Amino acid sequence: MYYSEDIVEEVRSRNDIVDVISGYIGLKKKGASYFGLCPFHNEKSPSFSVSREKQMYYCFGCGAGGNVFTFVMEYENFTFPETLKILADRAGMELPEVELSESEKKEADYKAVLREMNRQAANYFYLLLHSERGKSAYEYLTNRGITKEMIKKFGLGYADIYSNDLYQYLKSKGYTDAQLKDSGLVNIDEKRGGSDKFWNRVMFPILDTNSKVIGFGGRVMGDGNPKYLNSKETAVFDKSRNLFGLNLARTSRKSYFIVCEGYMDVITMHQAGFTNTVASLGTAFTPQHGNLLKRYVKEVILAYDSDEAGTKAALRAIPILKESGLSVRILNLKPYKDPDEFIKELGSEQLEERIGQAVSSFMFEISVLEGQYNQNDPESWTLFTHELAKKLATISERLERQNYLDACARTYQLNKRDLEELVNRYGMTASQYQKEARDKERERRVEKDNKDDGYRQSQRLLLTWMVNEPRLFERLEGIIGVDDFIEPSYHSVAAMLFEQYEKEKKVMPAKILNQFTEVEEHNQVASIFNTMLKMAPSEEDNEKALTDVVKRVKEYRINYEMEHSNDIILWQKLIRDKAELQKLHISLHFS
Ligand code: GTP
Ligand code: MN
Repeated sequence: MYYSEDIVEEVRSRNDIVDVISGYIGLKKKGASYFGLCPFHNEKSPSFSVSREKQMYYCFGCGAGGNVFTFVMEYENFTFPETLKILADRAGMELPEVELSESEKKEADYKAVLREMNRQAANYFYLLLHSERGKSAYEYLTNRGITKEMIKKFGLGYADIYSNDLYQYLKSKGYTDAQLKDSGLVNIDEKRGGSDKFWNRVMFPILDTNSKVIGFGGRVMGDGNPKYLNSKETAVFDKSRNLFGLNLARTSRKSYFIVCEGYMDVITMHQAGFTNTVASLGTAFTPQHGNLLKRYVKEVILAYDSDEAGTKAALRAIPILKESGLSVRILNLKPYKDPDEFIKELGSEQLEERIGQAVSSFMFEISVLEGQYNQNDPESWTLFTHELAKKLATISERLERQNYLDACARTYQLNKRDLEELVNRYGMTASQYQKEARDKERERRVEKDNKDDGYRQSQRLLLTWMVNEPRLFERLEGIIGVDDFIEPSYHSVAAMLFEQYEKEKKVMPAKILNQFTEVEEHNQVASIFNTMLKMAPSEEDNEKALTDVVKRVKEYRINYEMEHSNDIILWQKLIRDKAELQKLHISLHFS
C-alpha cells in the first residue's frame, strides 16, 4: 500500500458510505439500513443494503460487499490508489506525496510514460492533419462528410508518408528506444533503427474513460490492405476493456448505448446527435466490455453491419451482453451496410425511427433462425416450428414466454394453439431438466455444508455475534481469544477485531476492510459483518445458542491442539479443559 494506515482510515471515515453510494444508485431507508438495486448483478427487487452504522454495504443477492473503497473500486473499475485519490478529493483532503515502493514506482512511471507518449503522438498527428502535409487526409475526412467540429472532438489526425518522423519527434522529446518500442507506435530494428508503425493513414486516437490516449486506429485513405491498422496491446491499452467513444458516450445521460462496429460509424453517429454511441476496437465483444457498459446503462442497441459477418457478430455479442445484465435490442439498417451509410442516405430522423423499431434480441435470434428454413416447404417449416418452440420453452417467466409466443405466432403466421402445445411439450422436458439440476446443486451444497459445518461455521457465527453485540468481548474474556479462531481467514479478522475493541471499546468493521487488498476478501469479510442473526424470542434460548457456539469453537481448538501435539502433559490438560467445557454457560444479560 502506498499510504499509511492512518491516512487511509481518515479518507474512509470522512466519506460516509451512504452519501457516496447514493451518488451512484438510488437508496431507500428501511429500518437501520438503506436498500437499493444491486449494481453488481441484475435484479428486479432490491437486495443491496448499506449500513451507515457499520459503514459497509452487502448484497444479499450476489454476496458483493465491502466498505466505501471497495464500492468505488468495483463500480468505477478504479485501482486502490485511484479510489483513494477520488475519495480524498471528495472530502476536500490533500493527500501527501506518495511514498511508492521501488517496484510500484516503476510500474506507475512506466504506465504514465506510455500514456504521455500516446498523448504526444496524438498531438503530432493532429498538427500534421492541419498542416500542408496533411491536406489529402483532411480532404479524405471532409469528403466522407466529417465536420471540422468532429475532427476536433475526436482529435483525428494524420500519420504522413515519411517512414520515421514520429519516431524522430518522440526521440526529440527525450524518449528512449526501449520506451518507444513498448508504446507500440514505432518498430525498432537493430540495424535500421526506428520506423513508424503508422504510415500515410488517417488516425483515430483511442481514449480510455478518463479521456487519456491509450492507442490508435489508422485507416488507409482509399483502398489498401489492411484497411485499418490498430495499435498493439500495451500495459495501458487493453482492447477487451476499452471501447471507442466511451469517454464521450458516458456523459450522454441516455438510458441506453448504441454499439456499432466501426470507428467511422461512431463518428458519424455522434455528428448526427447520437452521442451515446460506442464501438469495440476491431475485436470481438468480451464480458469485460459488457460489464463496462452495464456501469452506465441498462440497455444496449446493437447497430452492427447488416451483412452476414455483422449478423454473426451480433449473435455472438447478445449472450455476452445479457450475461452482464443488459437488455439488448437490434437495429435493422437494411438495405444499408452500416450506420455511417444509413445516415448518409436517409438521415438521422429515419435512424431515430429505426431505433424505435429495434427488435428484442430474442426476436432477432428467431428471425435469423427463420432465415435458415423455407416457409414454402412443409418439412422445412415444421422443423422451424419445432426449433422455435424449443427456444420459447427456455423462457422461464410465464408471462414473458406467453408474450413472445403471441408475437412469434403473429410474425410467422403460425397457429397459436399448435405452437403453444409444442412449447409445453418442450417446456416440460426443459423444466424437468432444470429441476434435476437444481436438486443436484442442493445435494452438493448440503454435503459441503455438512463437511465444514460445525467448526468453520461456528467460528464465523461467533464473530458475527460479537460484531453485533460488542459487549461480548468483555463477557467472553478469558474464555475466547484470538487463537480460538483457527480458520486462517477468520483468525486475521478476529485479531483485528480484538485489537480494535481493546483500544477503542468498539468495533469498526469498515476499518478492518482497509487491511484487505483483494475484492474477494472484502466480499468474504463483509459477509461476516452483514449476516443477520436470527434471534430467538427468549433470552434463555439465545444464551443456550451462544453457549453452544462458544463450546463448539473451543472444542475445535482443543481437538486441533491434540492433533498437533504429542505432549502428554498438554493432553491431560486439554482433556480436563474439554470436560470443563460442559459446565460452560454464557449469560447474555447486560445490566
Ligand atoms: P469504413 O467506413 O470503410 O472506413 O470502415 P468501417 O468503419 O465501416 O469499418 P468496417 O465495418 O470495415 O470494420 C469495422 C471495424 O473493424 C473497423 O472500425 C476497425 O476497427 C476494424 N477493422 C476493419 N478492417 C480491419 C483490418 O483490416 N484490420 C484490423 N485490425 N481491423 C479492422
Ligand atoms: Mn463504414
